[in-house]
Amino acid sequence: MSKLIIANWKSNHNLQTAQAWVNQVLPAVAEAKAELVVAPPFSLLAPATGLLANSNLSLAVQDLSPFKAGSYTGAVCATNLVGLKIKYAILGHSERRRHFHETDEEVAAKVKQALVAGINPVICVDEPYLASQHQALVQAGVDFSQSNLTVAYEPLAAIGTGQSADLGQVSQVISKIKELFGSVAVVYGGSVTAANISDYMAISDGVLVGSASLQGESFVKLVQQV
Ligand code: PGA
Repeated sequence: MSKLIIANWKSNHNLQTAQAWVNQVLPAVAEAKAELVVAPPFSLLAPATGLLANSNLSLAVQDLSPFKAGSYTGAVCATNLVGLKIKYAILGHSERRRHFHETDEEVAAKVKQALVAGINPVICVDEPYLASQHQALVQAGVDFSQSNLTVAYEPLAAIGTGQSADLGQVSQVISKIKELFGSVAVVYGGSVTAANISDYMAISDGVLVGSASLQGESFVKLVQQV
């Protein structure tokens, strides 16, 4: 299985800058050895589906409604994504938990919705909450033996700070996650750059990258390290 590089744009980019990113990135990463995924804001998913058609990049959403289609103003559910090239859903990101007060139970409900829709969840977790985050997923009936689950270990102190986490510590937590969750892929996220991506790729199943993925040139540099 090839390792993952997920570019999380968060609440950045617009149609014009997204087009420029794609134009710069696609020709430079066509021979990439890793599986490449980009997570734009919801508003850019439809144009991105067109821009990435026949490319080796797939799309992720940065969130998903915990509900099915219905009267939930402002929510984007899996049904709303049918027809778009969405392969993954980043769920329970610490910024969602912090700024939007998402609970472990809500994250678990979102994971269920993604699985029902055939979208692969990338579930963001952190210490010291691994056990309770895992428990909420178990209680919601998430089956970890499914091969399409990815867990992202994202230590809060490393996200967007330029202070990537200690490799030894990341390695330990990855083993702990694999023990607890079973046979899931585990990626690392937090201040990944072209200078450190090879180290994190060596001890994990891939990386989730924010800041260093925003500029096309910087994302290409990341991919070229692998
Ligand atoms: P960062 O963000 O690469 O800017 O630290 C990572 C993330 O939030 O997933």
